[in-house]
Amino acid sequence: MTSAQADALQRLWPRYGVDLADATQIQARFSRPAPLTLEIGFGSGEATLWRAQQDPTRNVLGIEVHRPGVGGLMLRAAQADVDNLRVACTDAVEFIEAMPSASIDTAIIEFPDPWPKKRHHKRRLVQPAFIAMLVERIAPGGSLLLATDWADYAEHMLEVLEPAPALRNTAPDGQGYAPRSAMRPPTRFEERGLRRGHSVFDLAYRRV
Ligand SMILES: C[S@@+](CC[C@H](N)C(=O)[O-])C[C@H]1O[C@@H](n2cnc3c(N)ncnc32)[C@H](O)[C@@H]1O
Repeated sequence: MTSAQADALQRLWPRYGVDLADATQIQARFSRPAPLTLEIGFGSGEATLWRAQQDPTRNVLGIEVHRPGVGGLMLRAAQADVDNLRVACTDAVEFIEAMPSASIDTAIIEFPDPWPKKRHHKRRLVQPAFIAMLVERIAPGGSLLLATDWADYAEHMLEVLEPAPALRNTAPDGQGYAPRSAMRPPTRFEERGLRRGHSVFDLAYRRV
């Protein structure tokens, strides 16, 4: 962690930080209620900040366990004087579990840790129990958007998401991968994947 990130974590936590205890009343941590975009595992947070700036009519909440990334995002948010962004430095599973039903408008999981070794696949974030819990927190009509550059993780995501009873695939033919979302800017992890020769797979679902 750089000293600027460490300083930001401490100094800017009152403005941008959200504790696990805030999860039950998440809208109260923003300056006004608005549709909530939730980004899970934002890394360095460049996409999170971009989304908050692109659409000031929304509230954007990023959850990330990596503290330097959290400090870095708060620093850049303060430099840009962005007000519709909040950041939690907590395990996303625990945090989302504490959130109210139907409190999320759009949930985003981009380039989650791939855990490429087969014996580690069970550590992948996208699993049926986690998705069932997350979908319950997405409001009817809301969205779940995912992207990965690992082909076998993308297939696994489809296997988990297609049978979920409360989700409809919004790809043009109602199944499979979706076109790249206009609200998904490039990130370091995408660029790293492309440098490795990977393709990127987008998935888009609506909560029914
Ligand atoms: C491969 S990175 C991708 C970062 C970012 N989404 C991007 O596209 O650049 C995955 C991130 O998810 C975070 N992460 C993994 N599991 C998490 C969890 N349970 N709760 C919060 N963050 C998590 C990791 O710390 C890491 O920063």
